[in-house]
Amino acid sequence: MAGAVTIGWGSSVPDNVVTNDDLAKRLDTSNEWILERTGIRERHMGGVTSELAIAAAKEALASAGMEPGDIDLLVLATTTPDALVPGTSAIVQGALGTRGGAFDVNAACSGFIYSLVAAHGFVLAGSKRVLLIGAETLSSITDMNDRTLAVIVGDGAAAVVLEAVPGQGELLSWNLGADGLLRHLLCCEHGGYLFMDGKEIFRRAVRIVVDSAREAIVAAGVTSEQVDLFVPHQANVRIIDAARERLGIPEERAMVTIDRYGNTSSSSIPLALVAAITEGRLHAGDLVLLSGFGAGMTWGSALLRWGG
Ligand code: COA
Repeated sequence: MAGAVTIGWGSSVPDNVVTNDDLAKRLDTSNEWILERTGIRERHMGGVTSELAIAAAKEALASAGMEPGDIDLLVLATTTPDALVPGTSAIVQGALGTRGGAFDVNAACSGFIYSLVAAHGFVLAGSKRVLLIGAETLSSITDMNDRTLAVIVGDGAAAVVLEAVPGQGELLSWNLGADGLLRHLLCCEHGGYLFMDGKEIFRRAVRIVVDSAREAIVAAGVTSEQVDLFVPHQANVRIIDAARERLGIPEERAMVTIDRYGNTSSSSIPLALVAAITEGRLHAGDLVLLSGFGAGMTWGSALLRWGG
């Protein structure tokens, strides 16, 4: 049996920081409303998905002490690809020169969890080192005059390098789900703008996250009290708080980065994970619960024993 452990990490966000007050200058909104209803203070906006992905990947490779040629699989989660064809993973692969395969995953805000589980599956099938990236430029598909969405979205990328190890590795359990009959709640047609039924998503999100997280917790044979760090998808701090409370995880054990990044879809969980690592909030042996939900609808959770 082969598992994988995280040996490198990195992130990249556009230089352009947009505060709530910046948005309030041209939209019928306010810093108070945005902060109170979403938990967001500012977000980074701009850039190109592949370029953010490449920058995050370079940082992750450097922190792992690896060269691109040491990688034998590249998985890139995004809902905002540079082009319809080819995959953004191909553009990133071409720029970096990684070996082996490269493919995109579009599972919206659950994309990083889907990719993480897939990467572990590839390791089980023989891959040695996987470069896993979440990268988004949600602002590029958002109508900046639509105050519902303009205040929520953010751009950025984060990457991790996974290395095969003998034994179980980091991934203790996982849970993935989808319900395509709910696709109308959050969607974007070719060439169009993102549409979101925020109220309905909010109503469903807490239950979806809690159920999915519980499935992963039970499958690993642990309890939520044992979770050292909860790293949820950053869509709304009220969703994070409600899910965390229902799971019985105290506030200090949840990673919240929505205040600085907004909702960055596929990048949201890895950006929060990388922030947790660089801020010293993760230690070898910690039990880490990743949980997300998004368009599709899709959802997923992964329980990791940090450092394997
Ligand atoms: N600024 C100021 N007022 C706003 C606003 C904004 N940006 N957006 C909406 N409003 C107003 C509404 O028009 C409404 O006014 P009314 O009471 O006069 O009709 C009021 O604020 C409340 O609107 P509502 O839609 O009920 O707000 P909310 O508390 O549900 O918050 C979201 C809206 C979008 C922040 C919230 O529904 C949400 O986060 N949903 C989940 C989104 C999500 O998870 N998306 C990502 C999935 S990956």
